Amino acid sequence: MLEIGTLAGFSTIWMAQGLPDGGRLLTCEYLPKHADVARANVDSAGLGHLVEIRVGAALDTLQALADEGAEPFDFVFIDADKENNPHYLDWAIRLGRPGTAVVMDNVVWEGAVLDQSMDTVNAPGIISALTMLGEDPRLDATVIQTVGSKGWDGFALARVL
Ligand SMILES: C[S@@+](CC[C@H](N)C(=O)[O-])C[C@H]1O[C@@H](n2cnc3c(N)ncnc32)[C@H](O)[C@@H]1O
Repeated sequence: MLEIGTLAGFSTIWMAQGLPDGGRLLTCEYLPKHADVARANVDSAGLGHLVEIRVGAALDTLQALADEGAEPFDFVFIDADKENNPHYLDWAIRLGRPGTAVVMDNVVWEGAVLDQSMDTVNAPGIISALTMLGEDPRLDATVIQTVGSKGWDGFALARVL
């Protein structure tokens, strides 16, 4: 599994708990202080041996994984800086294989995907990635809206073809 955007390791822990026997999770985090907290949390959850945290800009880490000839990832979770979502989606395809599942979080963003003036920083990247999900022949995708205590949002679920 590959995760882009670790923060404190909350999603990392949930995903690592779902790994099959022999599976591993690599997660990308830009800020060392977030990575340190995540490492402590993942270790206290007893999952440290399954999780590698790479610190740095995710685009650099993803390029490094390609250069290293990393085995294809079966599952990719995208949840970092939204401006780079289209690039992360492209990397998910390049580092995946046919059948790889991709989840991209925060694709409704309180409706900013319909009104970019609500968030001119994040909305453009989210919209570009949604357009890519609809048009890129390498992907089949759908979007699920969510409404809850954290507000109105949604996630995209895609399959690499
Ligand atoms: C929304 S949080 C991740 C939350 C986490 N996935 C969870 O659900 O528990 C986004 C994280 O992405 C990190 N981030 C932002 N830009 C990044 C980049 N260019 N490369 C790697 N990580 C980045 C932030 O520092 C932050 O920790």
